[in-house]
Amino acid sequence: MIDDKKILFSGMQATGNLTLGNYIGALKNWLTLQDEYETFYSVVDLHSITVRQDPAELRSRARKLLTLYIAAGLDPEKNCIYYQSHVSGHAELAWILNCFTYMGELQRMTQFKDKSAKHADNINAGLFTYPVLMAADILLYQTDVVPVGKDQLQHLEITRDIAQRFNSIYGDVFTIPEPYIGKTGAKIMSLQDPEKKMSKSDENPNASIYLMDDKDTIIRKFKRAVTDSEANIAYNDTQPGIHNLIDIYSACTGKTADEVVSEFAGRGYGEFKLAVGEAVADLLGPLQARFFDLEKDKAYIDGVIKNNAEKADYYAQKTLRKVKKKVGFPEKIR
Ligand code: TRP
Repeated sequence: MIDDKKILFSGMQATGNLTLGNYIGALKNWLTLQDEYETFYSVVDLHSITVRQDPAELRSRARKLLTLYIAAGLDPEKNCIYYQSHVSGHAELAWILNCFTYMGELQRMTQFKDKSAKHADNINAGLFTYPVLMAADILLYQTDVVPVGKDQLQHLEITRDIAQRFNSIYGDVFTIPEPYIGKTGAKIMSLQDPEKKMSKSDENPNASIYLMDDKDTIIRKFKRAVTDSEANIAYNDTQPGIHNLIDIYSACTGKTADEVVSEFAGRGYGEFKLAVGEAVADLLGPLQARFFDLEKDKAYIDGVIKNNAEKADYYAQKTLRKVKKKVGFPEKIR
């Protein structure tokens, strides 16, 4: 608890361009939590180097992501928005927790298996211990809740296991975090293969709407979106393409799926796709404008980066001091 509020932690990697799926599935929900929780939203750049990165590009993407958090509406006075690499406690705690995590547990992680298949030429130890760093992120702030997608639930599970193991040895050091299952936004699927999640790492640029796509690009991608030959706008699992377009339209307009279906009853797919494209462009336009304005204000963004890193570090050190004492490290002489 900080000031009677529960603590919430989440993070995103600055690799790839954020998509409409990231926005509707994650960022947009974060906005609704900023008053209720004491929040920490990290740009998790330490995680990014488990895969080889171009340094200049990583730095630039990380800054863009941080700026985007603010452009999307996260108030940096209320939400601690910071770079993971600016708070050394993440790496320190990760080392300590490594010593309380079993090889066998890490070997079971499905993301490790997937990523090592994808990057067979660089299966480094960081990729293997990635979940431990994630556990450190979460436990460092005595986090109560973590909003995560389904693909990260296994990592949250191991975080809880590590925390419980540590606590059972040393007493109540860590808060045991829970996944945040809120009114989560719909899972947004690929426009080219609606059975697959929309992903920032998709090789086909037509499969995803990027948050920085301009209106013409957005409309063009929706015109090309894969649907079906039913010629009927209905909300069911046998029409995944239309289902996805309905989800997107309802996320943008706040209308329910039923309302969308009746609004477009009897109308053609072409017309519906255009309406979805317009709704998405209307949603992203103002966000993009805010982003470009913020990006120009270097001093402001620098201030946010500095202040929030200090704030995060303050809370991180509190936990770290406790942990170091518990495991038997000598106190620093001041
Ligand atoms: N691994 C997460 C992802 O790729 C990002 C992440 C890192 C994270 N640390 C976290 C998410 C802590 C939630 C909490 O999506």
